[in-house]
Amino acid sequence: MEKILIIDFGGQYNQLIARRVRECNVYCEVKPWTTPLETLKAFDPIGIIFTGGPQSVYLEGSPQVDPDIFTWGVPILGICYGCQLMAHLLGGEVTPAQDDSAREYGKTATYYNTDCKLFQGLPSEGVSWMSHGDYMAKVPNSFTLTARSDACPNVAIADQERGFYGVQFHPEVNHTEHGVDMIRNFLYQVCHAKGDWTMGDYKNTAITQLREKIGAGKVLLALSGGVDSSVAAALLAEAVGSQLTCVFVDHGLMRLNEGDEVEEAFSKWELNFVRVDAESRFLLKLAGVDEPERKRKIIGEEFIRVFEEESKKIGTVDFLAQGTIYPDVIESGAGEAAVIKSHHNVGGLPDYVDFKEIVEPLRMLFKDEVRQLGRELGLPEYLVSRQPFPGPGLAIRIIGDITKEKADRLRQADFIFREEMAKAGEDKHLNQYFAVLTNTRSVGVMGDGRTYDYTLALRAVTTSDFMTADWARIPYDLLDKVSSRIVNEVKGINRIVYDITSKPPATIEWE
Ligand code: XMP
Repeated sequence: MEKILIIDFGGQYNQLIARRVRECNVYCEVKPWTTPLETLKAFDPIGIIFTGGPQSVYLEGSPQVDPDIFTWGVPILGICYGCQLMAHLLGGEVTPAQDDSAREYGKTATYYNTDCKLFQGLPSEGVSWMSHGDYMAKVPNSFTLTARSDACPNVAIADQERGFYGVQFHPEVNHTEHGVDMIRNFLYQVCHAKGDWTMGDYKNTAITQLREKIGAGKVLLALSGGVDSSVAAALLAEAVGSQLTCVFVDHGLMRLNEGDEVEEAFSKWELNFVRVDAESRFLLKLAGVDEPERKRKIIGEEFIRVFEEESKKIGTVDFLAQGTIYPDVIESGAGEAAVIKSHHNVGGLPDYVDFKEIVEPLRMLFKDEVRQLGRELGLPEYLVSRQPFPGPGLAIRIIGDITKEKADRLRQADFIFREEMAKAGEDKHLNQYFAVLTNTRSVGVMGDGRTYDYTLALRAVTTSDFMTADWARIPYDLLDKVSSRIVNEVKGINRIVYDITSKPPATIEWE
């Protein structure tokens, strides 16, 4: 398989570069700049990308590369810091920008030389996204200037002979017009990629590798019903079938029909599917608890206990499987030592389950690739494109103490909301939406009678990273329909409010 090596200098868009490369059907991995050259060579890439980074190349202690990388014979694309580093190491000069005009931030009109392979076939003018305070005062001798802005003559440089290209701007962000095409040009025109990274191929390779690794061993997986653990389970089921046991702990705080849907989705494989109905156990532990962090802790602990009991019944297993995905790996140290996902969906995994090794079949995939793989494996679309759902489930969407009655009402209301959102097509562009049962009761009138019932809140957000989020401007008519349906169909709720706070200052969940 063709591979691109991305050397990470600490820039904020590094994951985005990797995603763009993979979107162009070329496999890539991100490695930290501290990785020894021999290790990088062993990876055997067809091309290298140096990422951006927050430092200045001329400062002591700034991230560097072994200069021998330039005699290896592999094409290199340097982005921002990566471009400056290449210039710095190959005999150019990088200095702090002397005046404001050489320090560029944001959208910048840029003029390209389309004879350069990087810009071949693209318009000669466009907007690029800049973010640099340093300036290449001198470009190395073998390089030519291939793009400029009004303020800066050397926005891009190239030594086409050696296959070295550098851009001061960020082609990986959407603000750069034709940025992805430039990356594609680097991959296909410069590195001569053929584009062999497709999910269908990956599925087959992954299945073969899992069969080799697992042999006749037994595998245990805690299935939460979320996208990652479901796809990991499906891949393992396809690879080793009945050697896999999935334990699905139903804590009774799932959405309507969710438990049945998950069970149904896995019925086509020969795996051992253990569904534990632990609703009453969890509700008993949660009775009278209204403090959000306590609820989380109780659910996490109880989950571990149930999982442990079930795994004891199975006995020793050879492998414990986890649905760790690539962003988790990058965040915890760019794929170095094996990382066991600490923020498992339902609050950590027991270290006393008896297993010999961890297997993480999605370790190299981004979220959208995980979904794609799920489709390749034939998982139903409602599972594959499922919005995030917190491990503690509806427990943190019922404000105050939790009862089965409240959980049932919230489930029903949440279902109506989701159903109407899907009918209106709003589900396609919103990242998360759900209902929250507040602890507030208020007076209403229904028919001729007075009611004193609960207030339900609707929440819908758009976000790219869930660290910040904007409340969604969904149509009033849709809100109206959802509101009247819920009040009419769900007992005990007589008032609906819509949450119009963004994150920050609020969070996405209410607890
Ligand atoms: P907040 O509420 O912090 O949520 O803005 C950000 C994202 O994280 C999800 N979330 C959780 N997921 N266990 C989880 O697995 C949790 O305890 C938890 N709390 C919040 C939330 O649904 C949103 O997508």
